[in-house]
Amino acid sequence: MSETVYLNGEFMPLDQARVPVLDRGFIFGDGVYEVIPVYSRRPFRLPQHLQRLARSLEAIRLAKPLADGERTRLIGDIIARYAGEDQSVYLQVTRGVAKRDHAFPKDAKPTVFVMSGPLVTPARELVESGVPCITGTDYRWLKCDVKSVSLLGNCLLRQSAADAGAAEIVLFRNGHLTEASASNVFVIRNGTLLSPPKTHLILPGITYDVVLELAAATGIPIELRAVPEAEVRSADELWLTSSTREVQAIASLDGKPVGTGKPGPVFRKLYQAFQDFKRKVMRQAA
Ligand code: PDD
Repeated sequence: MSETVYLNGEFMPLDQARVPVLDRGFIFGDGVYEVIPVYSRRPFRLPQHLQRLARSLEAIRLAKPLADGERTRLIGDIIARYAGEDQSVYLQVTRGVAKRDHAFPKDAKPTVFVMSGPLVTPARELVESGVPCITGTDYRWLKCDVKSVSLLGNCLLRQSAADAGAAEIVLFRNGHLTEASASNVFVIRNGTLLSPPKTHLILPGITYDVVLELAAATGIPIELRAVPEAEVRSADELWLTSSTREVQAIASLDGKPVGTGKPGPVFRKLYQAFQDFKRKVMRQAA
């Protein structure tokens, strides 16, 4: 049986959900999305995800298709209709169906789609071993702060990681770290946590914020600044963060071990803080 999804005001089985071929999401990649992790049936950092969605919608000049309360209720409904305890809710809004023309249609109705799936966080072995990554040139557009469904650049980059047997590709633009194809990147040097600040060159990750909050709370010094490629290549530790990866250590970069080649002490501290924080937040929500 296929799971229940939401499309334009109706709940229906996934295998019956259909979008017309002239939807601008299909034709132009003209839309935005969110991925919201759900632990024990409770969405994690939902207000922050909805705020980022609102910013993405504003950036592409699309009016909010649903009021805040409606969106929260809808996400609650999708979570309730899905079987798993830990889920990953996917929400997408496109500019809707219109005759093909690059300029915006006057009266198209946005397409709103929501589904849930299993939240597959890294297995214990991968938390303990870390993952191999490669590096590449960040050739994406200059609005990486918009969570757009136009992900061709990200898909091409991720595929080159997959071809190399790597988990992710760490990206550099003009000699500086940006992020990875679907995650933010943190660098540890001499005990200090470094990461690029939130600009148009990276997605403002919700997990990025959680990691910074936890680092501050556990006394890890933080520097948000441009990080030159050489500092990444000679880092003591490198981490990836995202809603589905949580915090994950990079074991090797382009085949060379990062630090000792094993997740380092700062990672272990932050990973534990992240797990404790998750449990605390979920208990409070119960
Ligand atoms: N990706 N940078 C990029 C390019 C991303 O696509 C993502 C998330 C992140 C991390 O953001 P957050 O911590 O809010 O998940 C950074 C999601 C998970 C995806 O596209 O599946």
